[in-house]
Amino acid sequence: MAKGHADKIAVITGGATGIGQAFARRLAEDGARIVIADFAPADETLALVAARGRPARAVVTDVSTPEGVDALAAAVAREFGGCDILINNVGIFPNRPFDEVSFADWKRVMAVNLDSMFLTAKAFVPGMKARGWGRIVNMASNTVATAVTGYTHYIASKGGVIGFTRALASDLGPSGITVNAIAPSLTRTTGTTTTNPRAPERFDHVASFQVIKRTQTVDDLVGAMSFLTSDDAAFITGQTLYVDGGWVRR
Ligand SMILES: NC(=O)c1ccc[n+]([C@@H]2O[C@H](COP(=O)([O-])OP(=O)(O)OC[C@H]3O[C@@H](n4cnc5c(N)ncnc54)[C@H](O)[C@@H]3O)[C@@H](O)[C@H]2O)c1
Repeated sequence: MAKGHADKIAVITGGATGIGQAFARRLAEDGARIVIADFAPADETLALVAARGRPARAVVTDVSTPEGVDALAAAVAREFGGCDILINNVGIFPNRPFDEVSFADWKRVMAVNLDSMFLTAKAFVPGMKARGWGRIVNMASNTVATAVTGYTHYIASKGGVIGFTRALASDLGPSGITVNAIAPSLTRTTGTTTTNPRAPERFDHVASFQVIKRTQTVDDLVGAMSFLTSDDAAFITGQTLYVDGGWVRR
């Protein structure tokens, strides 16, 4: 069990599948209580958490909108009393050459990947401040550094995530709240296997750039998240941790 997780309330956006589901499973093993905020049903995640003997609740909502996050915050306040650990995991990653990216495409990616983080932080930071303890982990991407093609709107949004992480950490440091980001390489998830028709060959291509030459799995990411949300990481804030098989080294 990670230090400081026992009975903490963890809200994970986009936790019905993929990386968010793995994070829910790990935080349950760490002793936290789990809230999943996803617009897809999260039954599979709830079963994984229940199998670990921890309470869990799913809120079906769109976290890219103020109304969706208001509904989430109301459910969390009513049923758990607040949020101690906020995992801003939700994200979409449409692959499209810049010429074909419309303004609507751009705005949708910004809304899901970046607006959602602003809205959830607005909703849950006041409670963290009142309790004098909080952990926020935002999902970035190593594409910010590798700048692969076809992801202008996605990479711009993830650059925003890294800037937001640094800036929010500055504002919240005095309140006992840390804010960090995790930047993965291409990871095998529902999203990456269904949205990219060239997925199989792309996995091998990306792995060839990493120092560790295999495709990243969700299990490669859970340890970093568990550490960054623990008491052991109380003095680490504003950082972006590249968990990407050693592709980006700085
Ligand atoms: N998988 C990768 O290769 C990879 C690499 C780098 C960064 N990331 C980041 O990690 C995060 C998770 O990625 P993943 O591959 O697990 O994604 P995924 O597509 O497998 O799962 C995302 C989940 O978010 C939910 N979701 C999407 N939009 C939502 C919204 N507006 N409101 C509520 N729920 C919503 C979906 O229903 C889904 O359950 C994303 O932020 C992504 O950008 C992923």
